[in-house]
Amino acid sequence: MSEPVLAWSDQLAIGQSVMDDTHREFVEQLNRVGEAEDSAMLAAIDDFIAHTETHFGQEEQWMDAIEFPPRGCHRDEHERILETVRVVRTRVAAGDFRLGRTLAEALAEWFPQHALSMDAVLGLYMTQIDYKPPPAA
Ligand SMILES: [Fe+2]
Ligand SMILES: [Fe+2]
Repeated sequence: MSEPVLAWSDQLAIGQSVMDDTHREFVEQLNRVGEAEDSAMLAAIDDFIAHTETHFGQEEQWMDAIEFPPRGCHRDEHERILETVRVVRTRVAAGDFRLGRTLAEALAEWFPQHALSMDAVLGLYMTQIDYKPPPAA
């Protein structure tokens, strides 16, 4: 069994419990992509895309609800990531499984800095204005 591409640690937690739960799940799904056998990789990427659409959509909904000032920038980064994942998905569907693993490694580098900057600032702002996110749909 290969090493996870990203290990969850409390250093990745930003102290906003709904977001931290989603982020823990993100790390799990990402590791499934990184560790998938060729035959299971496409399904792992599809699960990862489904999670990520919900995860990003949830944050975007909160940002809209509170009219979070830097939301355009945060949303753009989400879109750029999802776009990349969708492109890789088509390449994996054509048999390029190595690219699926490379994607997982690249996202393992990207995620901590996103969580600890854009997501952390959003979480802090939500706490400051006492915004309680609605339960996940
Ligand atoms: Fe996030
Ligand atoms: Fe985010």
